[in-house]
Amino acid sequence: MKALLLLGGFGTRMRPFTITKPKALLPLINIPFITYQFELLRINGIDEVILSVGYKGEEFKEIMKIGKKMGLKTYISYEKKVLGTAGGIKNAEKFLKGKEPFFIFNGDILANFNLEKILNFHREKNAYITICMVKVNDPSSYGLIVTDDEMKITKFIEKPKQEDIITDTINAGVYVFQPEVLDEIPKGIEVSVEKEIFPSILEKGKDMYGYIHYGYWLDVGTIEKYKKANFDLIDGKIELLYKKTDVNIEKPINSFIDDNVSVDGKLIIDENVSILENSSFKGKVIIGKNSFINKNVIIENSIIMEDVIVGENSFIKDSIIGNSVIIKNNCEIYNSSIGDKSFITQFSKISQ
Ligand code: GTP
Repeated sequence: MKALLLLGGFGTRMRPFTITKPKALLPLINIPFITYQFELLRINGIDEVILSVGYKGEEFKEIMKIGKKMGLKTYISYEKKVLGTAGGIKNAEKFLKGKEPFFIFNGDILANFNLEKILNFHREKNAYITICMVKVNDPSSYGLIVTDDEMKITKFIEKPKQEDIITDTINAGVYVFQPEVLDEIPKGIEVSVEKEIFPSILEKGKDMYGYIHYGYWLDVGTIEKYKKANFDLIDGKIELLYKKTDVNIEKPINSFIDDNVSVDGKLIIDENVSILENSSFKGKVIIGKNSFINKNVIIENSIIMEDVIVGENSFIKDSIIGNSVIIKNNCEIYNSSIGDKSFITQFSKISQ
């Protein structure tokens, strides 16, 4: 079966990290985000994956390599100009045409969907489109979907005002399409599937159904949610590639941690990391490969990416430090996002 991953967005809410990399390659516990989506597809028996890309399209060779290693057949559908989510799907028409339904995924969802159940639901309902939904406590910032007792979709509400919030089911960013849906999307222009195509198909009276997913679900669209995704994986709230363990330091054999390092929480480090004496870690901390943490450093609830150097006596809390960042001695960084290749001079104090 085929699935298309929508990966062509700018990821503006995840800047500065998406200035240098597409969202799909940002690490979740030191593993590129896309690997989790590929794993979800793989364990659900989907072996052909179309990558719908635009922004940072040149980086996607790296993503194809990851897919290949995992035994998936991957194809690139490249957009020279921004086409929006529906335009991205239309642009990949030649890969999707046929008699069988196919899956579409927003590329920034971390979830343990049961795709077999979703597909069975789609077939039982004889649906034209099935939209996977989740229930959330605060639906105000999402697209709401109203269904009847048979789960047939009756209304879409985008950007709801308080008085419009008449349901807690939202669009979870996963769809099953009958191949004919492709004919509903205009070619070569920017179109949104959720804001334009779905309401117009509903108006035409086609059978659209909503399937509720009750497992883990997170749209990793913002810096806060990106942190949450990493920390939820550590907590074992979702198991796709990372299996929760009880040890509080997880490190490969070729990394070095001085005996006088303290960990009050969980520290996960990748290959070739060094941590010198009297440094301490609190809460959840992830450190990417080749990073070097000098003496007397304190790091709390933060993500440090690859090739980072942290100088003596520096303090980092609730922050994300991008690749190849140099933080000199005696710095304090609170609640901040430091983009790739930044250089932080000594005694700097940074907070948002
Ligand atoms: P923001 O710029 O922060 O809103 O992030 P985004 O670019 O990821 O946008 P959004 O969260 O609305 O996109 C949802 C999914 O659709 C993401 O996986 C995007 O990569 C993808 N997407 C958004 N716009 C396009 C597009 O024009 N073409 C393609 N192929 N995918 C898109």
